[in-house]
Amino acid sequence: MRSEEINGNIFYNGDCIAGARAHIPDDSVDLIVTDPPYGINGDRLHQHYNRDEAFVVDGYVEVPASDYGEFSQRWIQEAERILRPGGSIYIVSGYTNLYHILHALRGTHLREVNHIIWRYSFGVYTSRKYVSSHYHVLFYEKPGGDRTFNLESRYGTGERGPKNGSLNYRDREDVWCINREYKPGQAKNKNELPTELLVKMIQYSSNEGDLVCDMFLGGFTTAKVAVGLNRRATGFEISERVFDLKIAELRDTRPGWLLSTLRTPETGEPANRGRPWTETDREILVSRFAALIESGETKKRAVEILGSELGRGRWAIEKMLKKRSD
Ligand SMILES: C[S@@+](CC[C@H](N)C(=O)[O-])C[C@H]1O[C@@H](n2cnc3c(N)ncnc32)[C@H](O)[C@@H]1O
Repeated sequence: MRSEEINGNIFYNGDCIAGARAHIPDDSVDLIVTDPPYGINGDRLHQHYNRDEAFVVDGYVEVPASDYGEFSQRWIQEAERILRPGGSIYIVSGYTNLYHILHALRGTHLREVNHIIWRYSFGVYTSRKYVSSHYHVLFYEKPGGDRTFNLESRYGTGERGPKNGSLNYRDREDVWCINREYKPGQAKNKNELPTELLVKMIQYSSNEGDLVCDMFLGGFTTAKVAVGLNRRATGFEISERVFDLKIAELRDTRPGWLLSTLRTPETGEPANRGRPWTETDREILVSRFAALIESGETKKRAVEILGSELGRGRWAIEKMLKKRSD
């Protein structure tokens, strides 16, 4: 299988199942972020998205719908094998073949962490039904090790927004509103993922120097963002035309190019530490706690969430809850 090395990162032009088997050792990848072909005639998807044919790269390789289930099982088994214990995987999927991906995941030991909805603007226009404007992002982990989750990589837990809401809490809700990118005049792979989406997953779920793999590189967006955040990158793209075009762009990508664009989270003391509790604060605390427990959170998690929402330390939350129940 043909491969190209850029700054120590190796990318393979070929099928990810055979390629991973031949080139990626067991337990060696810290994070997989990937966006498999959707199995819905992806080679005609651009018609729905109203794009100019001239700017779409030919050679996008689609998987026939009838093979999608087996195909998903085969590549997800490889993904499980190459992930390190504690490693994370994010799979972006449309709704049509989502059940195949979920079924394949259930056939592994990978464990669900979150089922995220990614909402974007400018969905496919319709007049006799609702407008579809979301994808599913399945966030799973390989059990048996420490999973990286950089809680304060983007917002400190004490940071408050304009209406006094916790920015950290809002950033970690499982519905993500992130727009697609349109790059007029640039040759692009169909369905390129937005940089912002990839930055978020890679910031939370990996550290500098970690190895990030994309089984379906397409426009190499995962690799570009991983390199931009000083991670190592690898992956596979079966189409020769797409591979050649995009690897050339990656060669011009400077390691760390995204770091200066990241906001610096304010970490440290919870924002409201030491501030006296008002009666309203207490009422919010008690009703939110009850709601969280009812929604299935453990007591420990509920206290953690409330600490972040109310800008208080864990101990202060626990003490106030105890006082109210006495
Ligand atoms: C949905 S696109 C990925 C888009 C990518 N995430 C991006 O942001 O540009 C899926 C890609 O997988 C490639 N592909 C299809 N089957 C493959 C296989 N068996 N192994 C590797 N790549 C494959 C397609 O050619 C296509 O470029």
